[in-house]
Amino acid sequence: MKLITVQDLAKIVQKHGFDNYMQDLVSYLKEDFVRWEQFDKSPRYVSHVPGGVMELMPTADKQYFSYKFVNGHPANPFDGKQTIVAVGQLAEIKYGFPILLSEMTALTGFRTAATAIVATEYLARKDSRVLAIIGTGSQSEFQTLAHKLVRPITTVRYFDIDPAAMDKFEKNMADKGFKLIRCQSAEEACAGADIITVCTACKLHAIVVKNEWIKPGVHINGLGGDSPGKTELEKSILFRGKVVVEFTEQSMVEGEIQQLTPEEVKQVLHAELWELINGSKVGRESDDEVTIYDSVGFAVEDFSVLRLTHDLAHKYGIGHDVDMIPPIKDPKNLYSILG
Ligand SMILES: NC(=O)c1ccc[n+]([C@@H]2O[C@H](COP(=O)([O-])OP(=O)(O)OC[C@H]3O[C@@H](n4cnc5c(N)ncnc54)[C@H](O)[C@@H]3O)[C@@H](O)[C@H]2O)c1
Repeated sequence: MKLITVQDLAKIVQKHGFDNYMQDLVSYLKEDFVRWEQFDKSPRYVSHVPGGVMELMPTADKQYFSYKFVNGHPANPFDGKQTIVAVGQLAEIKYGFPILLSEMTALTGFRTAATAIVATEYLARKDSRVLAIIGTGSQSEFQTLAHKLVRPITTVRYFDIDPAAMDKFEKNMADKGFKLIRCQSAEEACAGADIITVCTACKLHAIVVKNEWIKPGVHINGLGGDSPGKTELEKSILFRGKVVVEFTEQSMVEGEIQQLTPEEVKQVLHAELWELINGSKVGRESDDEVTIYDSVGFAVEDFSVLRLTHDLAHKYGIGHDVDMIPPIKDPKNLYSILG
């Protein structure tokens, strides 16, 4: 079984190149989303704990089973710790054996950005040049760089309530070819934006983005409304245009649409993302419609990124081969491991 640490993952991405990695990840995601009906799917298991959530996100097709074990503790940065950390595993169905155990903190950043740009590809105007990022924490750089791969982004307007998070974002993005505009409020960041990515962390029904700031033609990627009692968009935004989610059953409990009644969900919900990819539903149809990708993160996204990591780890010979399965000749003689 391969073990992939954070350092191994960094080597894989450096060797493959960030843009190639993201483009391949988008291909893997589309390959998996297009055959959505072949996956075992269920809302994630969530344990609500003081200060946050602990979650297990499993899924399987006929070849692999995967899961991610992830937390979400919005106040962690006050203690110098990350909001989200994760590990995950990929196993072969044939014998049920694990083949990969990987860090998934960075992989979550990659797969969330890759899934968001798939939504952007189908929903944002083709001429989108100005990206707003509200919340310049861990996800923000991945989101920003990924968007450049699918839209001609020239300008990034950004805001965070923490000035140090904006300093960090500026430093990381300084040489990436964007015009960077630091804003004093979320409203200022949204002004003139074609795409608004909202990725703040706060465990409450916050109104980070107001309806009156959303101009016709804007696409919103809402990432931080991803847990019961945790939303970022003013409810009335959801009535402005097409709303797209990953997996309705989970999103109704965790996404922005948790603010709606089941009747209202029927009224506003346009599609699950896989339906845009397989062409059974259309994305944007006019330049002035508002579109909203209400993302909570779904297990198939973790499945795709684990599959890619497994393939690249073998291609480049990166990672550690570890005995997590007893190396015994007689499959019934487990006792022999004691020597
Ligand atoms: N949908 C998904 O698949 C997915 C995946 C990963 C993370 N997330 C969510 O995205 C959010 C961001 O994750 P992260 O890892 O970047 O967290 P993070 O803690 O590293 O960053 C969040 C940032 O939001 C800022 N913030 C909080 N309230 C704000 C406000 N009202 N206005 C502006 N900025 C504000 C914080 O200061 C912080 O810098 C979290 O809510 C997380 O749960 C969703």
